[in-house]
Amino acid sequence: MRHRATDLAGVSLNTAGLPKYVDALPVPEKARPLRKGFYRITMREFQAKIHRDMAPTTFWGYEGMSPGPTFEARSGEAITVEWVNNLPTKHLLAVDHAVHGAEENVPEVRTVVHLHGAKVPPESDGNPERWFVPGQSKTSSYPNRQDAAGLFYHDHAMGITRLNAGAGLFGHFLIRDALEDSLGLPAGRYEIPLCIYDRLFQLNGQLQYPKSWTDDYNGNALLLNGKLFPFLAVEPRPYRFRVLNCSNGTFFSLSFSKNSLSLVPGTEPFQMIGSDQGLLSAPLEMKRIALTPAERADIVIDFSSYAGKTIYLKDSTSPIMQIRVSAGEAGKAMSLPALPAKLRNIDRTPENSAVRTRELTLMDYMGAGGRPTHMLLNGAHYDMPVTEKPALNSTEIWTLINLTEEPHPIHLHLVRFQILDRRLFDPQAYMKTGKLVYTEPAAPPEAHEAGWKDTVRADRFLATRIIVKFEGYKGRYVWHCHVLEHEDNEMMRPYEVI
Ligand code: C2O
Ligand code: CU
Ligand code: CU
Repeated sequence: MRHRATDLAGVSLNTAGLPKYVDALPVPEKARPLRKGFYRITMREFQAKIHRDMAPTTFWGYEGMSPGPTFEARSGEAITVEWVNNLPTKHLLAVDHAVHGAEENVPEVRTVVHLHGAKVPPESDGNPERWFVPGQSKTSSYPNRQDAAGLFYHDHAMGITRLNAGAGLFGHFLIRDALEDSLGLPAGRYEIPLCIYDRLFQLNGQLQYPKSWTDDYNGNALLLNGKLFPFLAVEPRPYRFRVLNCSNGTFFSLSFSKNSLSLVPGTEPFQMIGSDQGLLSAPLEMKRIALTPAERADIVIDFSSYAGKTIYLKDSTSPIMQIRVSAGEAGKAMSLPALPAKLRNIDRTPENSAVRTRELTLMDYMGAGGRPTHMLLNGAHYDMPVTEKPALNSTEIWTLINLTEEPHPIHLHLVRFQILDRRLFDPQAYMKTGKLVYTEPAAPPEAHEAGWKDTVRADRFLATRIIVKFEGYKGRYVWHCHVLEHEDNEMMRPYEVI
């Protein structure tokens, strides 16, 4: 029998009391081509245990797993994927028909796959309007003409992205290139893709998601590659983690700690080597990494100094995974090459290369209960005429003016960009006059955000400036907030490269 999360009693399963670290961290298997460069990936309903002591949970996933299989592609080598929708015709989670694009007159189950961070022609981009239904499939081609990076694929269907991704439709997509190969980074079983996301569960162990749209969905159970409180057995040597925040709307703050208690964040150092769109210019030693939804961190941590010990991955102060470091053979770890001091050249895009600056607001609209009813980008609904029409190969500055009380991770399809700065302004003055009155000096991006990005945190009451070259293809794309609840409820706009 299939279970549904539609009966939201308000009571969620308290998973905090379950025994910790009894399940090994799963590593998603690799996607296998049917022939060179051609894949067929089927979306299916399946059951999986997120914890040894819980009943199986029903999920939706690519190839019947969540996260889906990890793609490994080479820069410059195109692949084609036939995405097959074999899902049931009734949704696993409750569809709110009041949400734009999810009305009663469209099928309840619709899917379309977007490869986040990829430079692809518009017809393969997974535009939210190009959904298809159970029994149908859609073939997309991915040219992979871009630098090595950790991308991810996920569902993007109009008005139900939060439910489709929330049911499990996401997975990693890694692009490799010769430059990355030359760096001697930990590879094979020493490189681990890591999806981190939170969910609520009903008392019967099934997914729980509100029946009506909510601006804020936060789970009390943190899953890593599909498991709650997993453990990971490692050797005393460097490992590379391709970390992806694939939660609907939760911001994480990750660290490594020797301390298993929920008292303080971890302070064990690691090296960040890459962000959304590939390698940083040089490894950056960090003790904590903040990740908004859809942001990625490519990190290397050397476990050789923890030989025979146990350490923990934490989110904020809470341990979420136990890492058991084997004693290993003394001296063996020493022979491994150190990380190169330099990873690649990243030229800063000069501000004067921009042919225009667009000021774009982020706003929410309050309902009776003091909760937002929807959010808009630049005051426009999704269906209103396209207003952002950059010319192919031109460079623009987009100033994201956040007039809401919370940060929003803003993502543009097709392109990579650089963050110029963030700056406090007077929101009252802006509302009255439409002019930005800055009240503080501009702050440059943090060191780990100074590489190529495709998602940027636009903090509350800050103007965040990004500089973008619209390279690749002409056509229709979208930009949106990556809090999926916001994206589904109008915080998304089309843009067109002309
Ligand atoms: Cu992660 Cu519009 O995408
Ligand atoms: Cu995207
Ligand atoms: Cu948002």
